[in-house]
Order: sequence, then structure tokens, then C-alpha cells
Amino acid sequence: MEKAWWKESVVYQIYPRSFCDSNGDGIGDLNGITGKLDYLKELGIDVIWLSPVYQSPNDDNGYDISDYKAVMAEFGTMEDYDRMLGRAHELGIKIMMDLVVNHTSDEHPWFIESRSSKDNAYRDYYIWKDGRDGKEPNNWGACFGGSAWEYDEKTKQYYLHLFSTKQPDLNWENPLVRKEVFDMMTWWCDKGIDGFRMDVISLISKTPGLPDGRVGKSGYGDPGCANGPRVHEFLKEMNREVLSKYDLITVGECSGVTVEEAKKYASSAGDELNMVFQFEHMDLDGGESFKWNHKKIRLTELKQVMSKWQTELEGKAWNSLYWCNHDQPRMLSRLGNDSSLYRERSAKLLGTCLHMMQGTPYIYQGEELGMTNYPFTSLEEFRDIESINAYHELTEKGIVPPEEMFDYISYKGRDNARTPMQWDDSPSAGFTSGTPWIAVNPNYKEINAKEQMAREDSVFRYYQKLIKLRREHEIIVYGDYRLLLPDSGELYVYMRSLGEQRLLVVCNFTEQETAYQMPDELESGKGRVLISNYDRETLEPSATLAPYECAAVLYG
Ligand code: NOJ
Repeated sequence: MEKAWWKESVVYQIYPRSFCDSNGDGIGDLNGITGKLDYLKELGIDVIWLSPVYQSPNDDNGYDISDYKAVMAEFGTMEDYDRMLGRAHELGIKIMMDLVVNHTSDEHPWFIESRSSKDNAYRDYYIWKDGRDGKEPNNWGACFGGSAWEYDEKTKQYYLHLFSTKQPDLNWENPLVRKEVFDMMTWWCDKGIDGFRMDVISLISKTPGLPDGRVGKSGYGDPGCANGPRVHEFLKEMNREVLSKYDLITVGECSGVTVEEAKKYASSAGDELNMVFQFEHMDLDGGESFKWNHKKIRLTELKQVMSKWQTELEGKAWNSLYWCNHDQPRMLSRLGNDSSLYRERSAKLLGTCLHMMQGTPYIYQGEELGMTNYPFTSLEEFRDIESINAYHELTEKGIVPPEEMFDYISYKGRDNARTPMQWDDSPSAGFTSGTPWIAVNPNYKEINAKEQMAREDSVFRYYQKLIKLRREHEIIVYGDYRLLLPDSGELYVYMRSLGEQRLLVVCNFTEQETAYQMPDELESGKGRVLISNYDRETLEPSATLAPYECAAVLYG
């Protein structure tokens, strides 16, 4: 397998609004990030994925951009950005920017022009259509509720927005749009950035003819735009025009991606992207009303999905590995156990299970501390457009009763990941000296970076070790993967192999002691425990694993 620095890297995602506030306005900012780069250096990560810091009216916290070449005033200035980039580079940390080009903000000058008249030069930068029988052009629903079409009185046409009404979709069919995007990317690359995470990039090529989609519970049709007919052509063009000219790390956020499609997006031929974020493991607890339910992820299904991605991309494309990001609730509260008894142990188990796989691991801020979901008690505590809109839409239509829907958004809502980073036990967890834009999780006195950095057996120290191991053992990066005990509903066991070496990873995902039998092919006694969350020095051929115990054992 061909080696590459981005295969050997560990990425850390920063959600700037919630990371660290340096000026007391309650909102995280660039100077706040710069001040914490030493912390990230100590953790040992290689790359930061920075969620959007561009100018934005913040309808969707920066995923609605009104100027791609300016910094959001709340986050600071371009000088602050340059200082952050410079300091990160001094420390050997790379910066990957969030590229949001499926849509812009409706306050972007292109859209302001576009909506001004039908014959404006920018009209075709977006997707405008006449209504059908006095209604929307088709039945598509938007991700944040309602129709995906918004009527514009001025020119009496509808524009498409797969997300909020303030996020009109760009028309990628228009070569001028592609050129603008590529020029803007080049501008950032010339500034010295190190890569791009590409927001919903699988959606840029719309279904030809924009046909009605299958109607779901919300009453709207599914746009079905994922992996559209020209998406690979567009990305190959992007690669030719921009990516291939620099040494970058690229990851496409690809909702609706299948293994077959991923082999094209992230092909080892290197003519599109380095890797994709797939969603199959995140969708395991989804249901009819999208993600709004209490369903639990079943371990056997999780293993089946993860293993499929591991084995099918082997040698053909590259995996990204993630449990958490700013769009997901905390995995510790979803698949782990966030009770005080098992919180740290299960956080370490989740880390081990993921970081020992093949692919580039992504850590979301606070994951390295075992941060948990937030205990919501009222709708007023929510800030996220997705949760708030979904609550109103599904309760007002009588699809889900209000108390039930409140439980769902509390459990699955994105704000769980967006509460401020917990730095220490001072007021507001050391995130801000002012009033935070979103409430701090009350458990910050117990869970915070300061306490964990001072304690050898903390989750932070454990993540530090996971990252270090990846650097020390090639088998963790490049070894192939095989699932063992596929039918066990308690244990996730897999084996990595590289040459003569074997790495056995054993994780007990339950609250019970669980018996484990070593595969015959491994001779007992010769293994070396690389990491364990239970002070285990050896793994006997027949062992009893403690609740949430995990270990990675190297043979040969
Ligand atoms: C995916 C982003 O991760 C999410 O936060 C955002 O709301 C949508 N794309 C729309 O940009």
C-alpha cells in the first residue's frame, strides 16, 4: 500500500464557536484557538479541521457563508487567522479548512445579485425554477424542515435550498460557479493552508430533471441528490485545477455514500479526494423520522458496517474514522456509558476500538476528555436550527408528541456536541469570562482538561497514548483488518495484520463481565499489551473481560 502523511495523521476537529473565547464575548474565537495550540501539541495530533470561520450571518453557525475570503467578525480578523496558522505551523500542526460550497448564504453577494433579476449575470449561479401549478417546482423537503424551495416575490420564481432558506444551493452545472470555487480554494492554498474538509460534497450534482422524490413521514419528498451523475466529474476537475497542485489532506463529507461510491471519491488513484466521511454507522440508530428516536445502535450491526468499510476499501481507497463531530451527539452518551461508574472506561474503549482500525482517525473537541451529552431541560436551551425546526415541524404536524420529541432532540440533537469545551473548573469551564452563547455542561467541575492533564490515568492521557502508538507501530496505520466473532453481541474483536505481525483488539461493549476465547492462530503468552483501559499486562487465551474493558495486543 502506498504510504502518505495524511494516512499516518490524526485529525482534531475544532468547532470555533465553542472552543475557547479570548475576548469575553461568550463566543469562541481565533485567538482563543491560538492560545490552545500548545494543548493540542501535547495531545499529539497532526492536523486541525477547523469548522467554518468565514464571514457568515450564522443561520447555521457558519455553514452559511457570505464571504469566503473574510473571517467572521465574532471570531476575529484575518490577521488573527494568519497568526493562528503561523503558530500552528511552527508547532508542526496542519490546518484543514471547511469548504462549504454546495450552498452559500443568501447574504453572499452572488445570491444578492442572482435574486435581483432574471437576467442578472449571477442568476445562473443558483438553481431557479418556475412553480408547478402555483406551488413548489417539486416535492423535495429541506434537511432543516419544510420545502427545499423558497418563493422569491421579486422575480416570481423559486430557488433551491437543500438546507435552510438562508442556504441557497449553488448551481454546479454552471462552469463559472466551478471556476469561482476553484479560484477561492487556490487563494486559501496560496495562503498556506493544508487541506479541505468538504461539506456535503456528495450533493453538488443534482438529480437531472429534479424529479419528485419518495415521500417520507414529514410529507416531503427525498431530493435523492447524493452521488449525482456529475459529482465525480466535478471533483476530478477540482483535483486537476486545484488539489493536485498542492500537498493537501482532503476529506469529503458524503451523506448517502456507499462503499462502491467511496472507491471513486477516495480512490487510491488520487484523482479526487483522499477520503470520505461515510454515514452508515451513524445511521444505524436512525428510523422513519430521520434520526429522531431513542433507538440504540446494535453492536452486531455496527461491527458489520465498520468491517465492511474496513475490508472493502482495503488497497482501493482510504477510510476516515470517526465517532463524533459537531453534527452528532456525544458518542459516549450514545454507544458508551456516561454514568460516573463507566464514563472514563467506556470513553477509552470507544477510542481504542476506533483508533486501532485502518484509516485516518478524527477526534472531535472534548472527545479526548470523555465529554458527554448535555442534560437539556427546556427548548430554550437549544441553539441549533436543525433541532428547533424539527421539533416544531414534527410536533405541530402531530407526527411526534411534544414530550417525546423533546426527549429525541435532547438525546440526538447537535447541540450536545456544541456545548463549550471544558478547560478547567472555573466558572464557564474556563471557556469564557463572559456569558457563553450556549450553556456549559454542568459536569465541567468533574470533566475538564486541567484535571485530566494532571492525572496519569485520565481519558486525555489515554488518547495521547493512542495517538503515539499510531506513530510507533506501522501495523496500526497500514495493517489489514479482519473481524473476529462477528456474531457476538457483547464483544468487538478484530485483528490487524502486517507481514508477520498481528494486532489483536478486544473490546467488551457491555456492563457485564464477558468471557473471551483467543483465536487458535495466536499463541498465548507471546503477545504484548500495547494499551488497555484496565491495567492488563497479559491477555490469557481464555479471559474474562471486565465491563467495558478493552485491550490491544501485539504479536510478533
Ligand atoms: C454538514 C455540516 O456538517 C452541518 O453542520 C451543516 O449544517 C450542513 N452540512 C449544511 O452545511
